[in-house]
Amino acid sequence: MRLISVLIALVAVPAAFFSPPAGAAGTDPLVARGRYLVVAAACNDCHTPHWRESGGNVPVGDWMVGNTVGLRESWGTDYPANVRLLFAKMTESEWLFEIHTRGGRMQWHDLRRLTLDDQRAIYRFIRALGPKGTQVPDSLPSDQDPRTPYIDLRLHTPRP
Ligand code: HEC
Repeated sequence: MRLISVLIALVAVPAAFFSPPAGAAGTDPLVARGRYLVVAAACNDCHTPHWRESGGNVPVGDWMVGNTVGLRESWGTDYPANVRLLFAKMTESEWLFEIHTRGGRMQWHDLRRLTLDDQRAIYRFIRALGPKGTQVPDSLPSDQDPRTPYIDLRLHTPRP
């Protein structure tokens, strides 16, 4: 499975490299598609502060700035990254490579199932929003209690 992902990346990354660069946000149709996908794929649920509590009522200028509310899993606590800052430094090819090669705590397995155009669209929309916000805290090991608010996603099995 991992080998297949790497092979796809080997095709996808050069394809992205030779495609025209993202145009101005207003003219590139992939930017509008990216906005639709970021909502549909629930990226804001984790990466945008107050998205869940407000029922999605956050101005688009504040989307994807990362979250200081941690997600505590059995393996530790992670903070959804500030994707606005990350994409300001990362190229589209690097993003495609990451989707196809990385494993771990983000929803990479879901992103890998999108079409190449959809993967690009997500990047172009978030990149066009521009950098904003600050870095989120580093991940914590499982034996360390977070000092920030966190959502507990660990499995708790009640006694019978
Ligand atoms: C269930 C919560 C959740 C959802 C939904 C989610 N993410 Fe994430 N994301 C995370 C967490 C947590 C991290 C940090 C992972 C870590 O620290 O290892 C992360 C990390 C990232 C990163 C940083 C990767 C890096 O190189 O450091 C990017 C980019 C990203 N997410 C984009 C997205 C996009 C785009 C979507 C929607 C398609 C999305 N995420 C949906 C929780 C989520």
